[in-house]
Amino acid sequence: MPFELSRIRNFCIIAHIDHGKSTLADRILEITGAVEMREMRDQLLDAMDLERERGITIKAKSVSMDYRIAGQPYRLNLIDTPGHVDFAYEVSRSLAACEGALLLVDAAQGVEAQTVANAFLAIEAGLEIIPVLNKVDLGNARPDEVIQEMHASLGIDPDHVLRVSGKSGLGVPELLQAVVERVPPPEGDAARPLQALIFDSVFNDYRGVVVHVRVRNGTLKKGDRIVMMGERTQHQVDEVGRFLPEMEACDALGPGEVGYVIANIKSIRDVTIGDTITQLGSEDQVASLPGYRQPKPMVFCGLYPSQNSDYEALRQALDKLRLNDSSFTFVPDTSDALGFGFRCGFLGLLHMEIVKQRLERESGLALIQTAPNVSHEVLTADRVLTVVESPGDLPDPSTIEELREPIVRVSMVIPAENIGALMKICTERRGRFVKTEYLSTTRVILAYDLPLSEVIFDFYDKLKSATRGYGTMDYEVQGYFPAELVRLRILVGGGEVDALSAIVHRDQAESFGRALLRKLRKEIPRHLFEVSLQAAIGGKIIARESIAPLRKNVTSKCYGGDITRKRKLLEKQKEGKRRMKLVGQVEIPEKAFLAVLDSSLKEEA
Ligand code: GTP
Repeated sequence: MPFELSRIRNFCIIAHIDHGKSTLADRILEITGAVEMREMRDQLLDAMDLERERGITIKAKSVSMDYRIAGQPYRLNLIDTPGHVDFAYEVSRSLAACEGALLLVDAAQGVEAQTVANAFLAIEAGLEIIPVLNKVDLGNARPDEVIQEMHASLGIDPDHVLRVSGKSGLGVPELLQAVVERVPPPEGDAARPLQALIFDSVFNDYRGVVVHVRVRNGTLKKGDRIVMMGERTQHQVDEVGRFLPEMEACDALGPGEVGYVIANIKSIRDVTIGDTITQLGSEDQVASLPGYRQPKPMVFCGLYPSQNSDYEALRQALDKLRLNDSSFTFVPDTSDALGFGFRCGFLGLLHMEIVKQRLERESGLALIQTAPNVSHEVLTADRVLTVVESPGDLPDPSTIEELREPIVRVSMVIPAENIGALMKICTERRGRFVKTEYLSTTRVILAYDLPLSEVIFDFYDKLKSATRGYGTMDYEVQGYFPAELVRLRILVGGGEVDALSAIVHRDQAESFGRALLRKLRKEIPRHLFEVSLQAAIGGKIIARESIAPLRKNVTSKCYGGDITRKRKLLEKQKEGKRRMKLVGQVEIPEKAFLAVLDSSLKEEA
């Protein structure tokens, strides 16, 4: 028997990082009895080690709780959402599975960038918002001011705000009561053909892919033959169940219910978050639920093993990681400087950092990461649009009609006194002012449209230092827009070095090129001849440097004429040369490539 619709409540918690989402979720699990006190580990929903350590919720998870209020049984489905910008698509899919959202704001920190961003996502998705002031137990809590900020930024009625401490449990039973009273029950019809939303998927070593679903109409049960409407793939259902929070099989999932499906799916790539499931044969009667899309990597970098012999181990580690993260991509790549490795794509910077750390931790490999770059859209003269993920893949400039770069809208919540400093940073980075909005007399929301390429280079660090740690930011991709971009070529001794080329804005090309050449000059040793270093756009040289010649005789120290000692020195020199890359007649040390790939270059430019 499916659970009665009017007694189901599907809700999620949205908050800025560290505002206490996981702690509150733990308290809710405890109070509803979903988890016995003694089983309680802190932050049960943050399962992965890394998440625990960094306190960041990465993958959405859900838990189903049976709870009585005023003697009546209710089924409360809490859907966990990731809290970071890079996972905005996953957040939006989790929201689509709910009717209500607890909007959590730290009573000491106040409204932050992701509070606003996530709240708007929830409002757009039509969810009932329950505003919650969390951590009211804190000594430095400033409840009235923070409630005022919630009012100013999101139009929240101060009388509707609940005061809670996720840590002590204060106000949590009242919070659950508010969920039942304020969040509308789901709508749906068991008699209609099956329509279920996939809002997450996780790979399990024993069971294959566990697909997290929210049923809209119809029922989903064991033995059903199902179709994923976006991918058009078919599967046979082995098991359906709910998260209590451990997986527990049940007979069927009815309208409004949240749970999982196991259907002998081997790879997470076969399941797309946001896709709609229906029964085989019902495809023509059921509409796909809106919002389905494949998340596309926007930020790329090379990952190379420090030891060349670790290449195979790295490939295996990447394969394994990819089992549980379908938004991350990798293809084999070779670099003049670094040998064999992989070019990897990520949703954003944090995603990149997490993947790299996870790789290093789980595989024990030492990795070299090259500076990140963004993808570009190229419109060729014959009106073909392609996406280019690496500067080296750019077609011949004469065939390019238009080059487009990704632009993001960055929303910053900062102390009002730092507005000038932040505006300066944004302007220097080709930003376009969008708006300022005062949360109170001392805090303000500042929004700019910025090229993503400018944001991925330590923008966050700059924001933090300009605001002494108080600023927070969030960004939303606006799309690809044309810009005066050029491919900067680097020539050493007259020969082009592919690995050093970059896509940069025309106005910055010269200063960037100069900084790059200065750095190269320091890193490339003197040769017997003069080495010319040039930066060029197409055939036009825009910056040049040279390395003066040197007659270097390593054996000159050995005036004694001892032949074995001489040989030893020559051998040593030869060994050093092995780690050099020969471009024309010029030997470039590995170190020089790395120095140039270093992101601090942007600074110098
Ligand atoms: P993400 O998963 O990264 O989004 O973080 P989160 O929002 O889940 O935050 P988390 O629950 O990890 O809490 C962040 C910090 O705040 C932890 O150190 C908690 O112990 C602390 N904290 C959470 N709730 C409360 C509270 O009600 N009172 C006090 N004093 N501290 C709290």
